[in-house]
Amino acid sequence: MIKKTNFIFLILFLAVLFLLSVFFIEFIRENAFYSLIGLLVIYLVVYWRTRNKYEKYDVYLILSLLAVFIASRLIFGNLDQATLTLRTSAILAFILINLALLIGPWSRFSDKILKIYYYRRHLGVVVFLLGAFHAAIIMPLYFDFSLKNAFASPFTFYGLTPFFIMLWMAITSWDYMQKKVKASDWKIIHAALMITYAFIYYYFYNILKEFNDPNLFYHSIAILFFLIFWVIVAPYSIIKKIMRTYVFGWKQLHVLIWVIYISLVLHVLLGALTAAALFLKVVFYASVALVLGSHAAGWISKIIEDKKIYSKIRSINKEIIINNKKYIGMAKINDFKENKGKKFYINKKPVAVFKNEGKFIAVSNVCCHQKGPIHKGKVEYGTVECPWHYWAYNLKDGKFMGKENYCLPVYETKVKDNILFVSKEPINDKSCYKLN
Ligand code: FES
Repeated sequence: MIKKTNFIFLILFLAVLFLLSVFFIEFIRENAFYSLIGLLVIYLVVYWRTRNKYEKYDVYLILSLLAVFIASRLIFGNLDQATLTLRTSAILAFILINLALLIGPWSRFSDKILKIYYYRRHLGVVVFLLGAFHAAIIMPLYFDFSLKNAFASPFTFYGLTPFFIMLWMAITSWDYMQKKVKASDWKIIHAALMITYAFIYYYFYNILKEFNDPNLFYHSIAILFFLIFWVIVAPYSIIKKIMRTYVFGWKQLHVLIWVIYISLVLHVLLGALTAAALFLKVVFYASVALVLGSHAAGWISKIIEDKKIYSKIRSINKEIIINNKKYIGMAKINDFKENKGKKFYINKKPVAVFKNEGKFIAVSNVCCHQKGPIHKGKVEYGTVECPWHYWAYNLKDGKFMGKENYCLPVYETKVKDNILFVSKEPINDKSCYKLN
């Protein structure tokens, strides 16, 4: 059996090797279809006999990619291999990024989708690899390896934007970075990436100016919007600070998924879609509307859910003080089911409350890893498992069950007159609360 880290490195090493050979070796490019099929078959061999149920999803994804590429070859047999594979990979990347973006809001409404929440990261990496494959064929084939030639067609800049950001998202997705990089260093990473991106845009701007592009002004407005979003929402997260929620360095880099998505939409709109059939245009607009509509519905449902929680707490409207400690009435104890979590708010902080073996346990509802909703986690053997990536915590002291010294804030609970009261402040050691 290959060790998990070695396994991931092997998969990535093969992908990078493949992309470099497509980019630099004409023979591989001209035989892009068979080369890609070869890579996917090698992946299947590497994954052969995998026992891990999560890696099984990777196998299904590889098989789906194989099926789509083979089907497109059979349907569009008149196209040369490079054109066929660059188009198919672009379409697949767009479908997968839509799927990855739908998992988040849909997991609010379905526990089945919540179970594959963690898989968004794998989908993101596959989107990046498909995009990189697409670029590795296009750059030598259409633009003679020259960024200047590529930027003469404005839509290519909107294709480069997701590639640039996703590259960094993929690099920083590595758990090691999330654990080791400090919050302040994430800001430096953000700033460095943003400045580099602004310089690339400046280069693009000069090329468009040289070609007297009539839409130069609109491109500048779009990029300005990206940069404003980058500063306000990503590293400094002014909105989150106003909402008084914790700003999480690595996660904030991933907020740039919206710059990626809008940029990809513009890339398709200004490029492939201009010559596409009406049917494809309708599918494209419908998928974008579905993603945006699902996120809007997710946000609205969160607002409604929070309102209900606050009004429940208000309807209890009770506080008790024991040994100078304040406890807030949350709910009637009959409202709880064994091992089923419920979400509340204490001091505006989300708290998950569980009834386990007749006792009530209250912990922070924010997972140390990536802020997953602990109240939706599975409770067994005195632990709760976050539904997003399955980090488990001891319910007694909130401690992470892995080797690192992380923990969830734990609150004291009391029952009086059939009402559950939760302490206003957590009671465990604060030193282990946060990951950067
Ligand atoms: S958010 Fe990743 S395990 Fe909880």
